[in-house]
Amino acid sequence: MQPVRVLVPASAANLGPGFDAFGLALTLYNAVEMQEDDETHVVILGEGAHTLARNASNLVVRAAQRLFDAAGVRRRGLRLALHNAIPLGRGLGSSAAAIVGGLVAANELAHRPLTRSDLLKLAVQMEGHPDNVAPALLGGLVVASASESDLIYTQVPLPPMRLVVVIPDFALPTRKARAILPAAVPRRDAVFNLGRAALVLLALQRGDYKLLAQAMDDRLHQPYRARLIPGMETVFAAAREAGAAGVALSGAGPSLIAFAERDHECIGKAMQRAWEAQGVQARVLVLEVDQQGARMV
Ligand code: HSE
Repeated sequence: MQPVRVLVPASAANLGPGFDAFGLALTLYNAVEMQEDDETHVVILGEGAHTLARNASNLVVRAAQRLFDAAGVRRRGLRLALHNAIPLGRGLGSSAAAIVGGLVAANELAHRPLTRSDLLKLAVQMEGHPDNVAPALLGGLVVASASESDLIYTQVPLPPMRLVVVIPDFALPTRKARAILPAAVPRRDAVFNLGRAALVLLALQRGDYKLLAQAMDDRLHQPYRARLIPGMETVFAAAREAGAAGVALSGAGPSLIAFAERDHECIGKAMQRAWEAQGVQARVLVLEVDQQGARMV
């Protein structure tokens, strides 16, 4: 039998003020090939080839198992080939891509017992927050809000846009980047983010880079995470100086994303140089928004 093959995009969550709510799918992909076998075998190429688990504890395998359990399907084992282009621990949704890849491929192997919305619920349960798994599954810009008892989400149509992604040579585990956040925030900071989040969403939707330049700011997570990301503020400043309209942490960081109407390569270089001056090597990608999300190929 032929393996099923699923392509899953990277994602940038938060987008500044949209902490745990906004997520954007990017044109950088992991591919998951899955077929049934007597035992579980995992082959990994690319990112994480030497570090990720190759047994039942691999996140893609765990997600597949979660799907089979939810659908009441029994499988002996799985043969998996993972072709990973999304760097790990960089705030680009690598774990969300693994979860979504495992769920979608397993759903396909099981002849699609679950709907997309069921898959998203399982993915949010596994990841703990919706803002990476939702765009990884659905594509585009997704706004999601999860509570203990419900999950509301919608895709927001965007005009075509390119963005700069600058990826430093160090990883920051999301667990650590969440642990540094305070349990409570001053009301004025919550109010600040409410307004900024709504404005950022409108600016992106309209392709209004002037508004984006005014609105893309955050007080709920970035100021605290700056302590874990040497040079973050300096690189933000270099991006703006080079013409970026908005700049933010990608997810929990440490990667940074910049939005601009033009000059993406120059902005990327300026950010890279600024980081280098702080002793941090970084690489630059100029990406677009993935509009499709996880898909069979
Ligand atoms: N919203 C999550 C966070 C994204 O900022 O912790 C993790 O990639």
